[in-house]
Amino acid sequence: MRIELRVNGDDYRREVEPDLTLLHFLRDVLGLTGTKWGCLTGDCGACTVLVDGEPVVSCLQLACQVRDREVTTVEGLETADGLDEVQAAFVSNGAAQCGFCTPGMIVAVEALLRSNPSPTEAQVRESLSGNLCRCTGYNKIVDAALQAARARLLATDIA
Ligand code: FES
Ligand code: FES
Repeated sequence: MRIELRVNGDDYRREVEPDLTLLHFLRDVLGLTGTKWGCLTGDCGACTVLVDGEPVVSCLQLACQVRDREVTTVEGLETADGLDEVQAAFVSNGAAQCGFCTPGMIVAVEALLRSNPSPTEAQVRESLSGNLCRCTGYNKIVDAALQAARARLLATDIA
């Protein structure tokens, strides 16, 4: 079936199988491998992307379900000036580790800050509850999210 959608600001029209997941469409058809393939059962959050600004686990979404919608992957968060506030805060706080969980976490934090620009620590932890990492205590990830929120608010104030 034919789908048209926008991904990271670019418009695409592709023929896809009806059972192709959004995750595999992004990785295998568009070559956007920043979105990670983890559990494929909706449990780990590694495949999180934004669909019309809302966080979605792309392994449980069919590509044909996002027809005419706007998808943002971790690659699409980067700005013309480089890393966005969330990506930069993950780097500066040492919150980026194995590479599998990190893209989904960055996208989840991005979704949170778009809906709640000044979250509490508890709200950050809640927003990351669907993103699993076996290796950290999440503290650096939470620190990064809170720092990104502050940086973005500051940038908004200055602008
Ligand atoms: S790969 Fe989608 S939630 Fe784990
Ligand atoms: S799963 Fe990525 S650092 Fe633990």
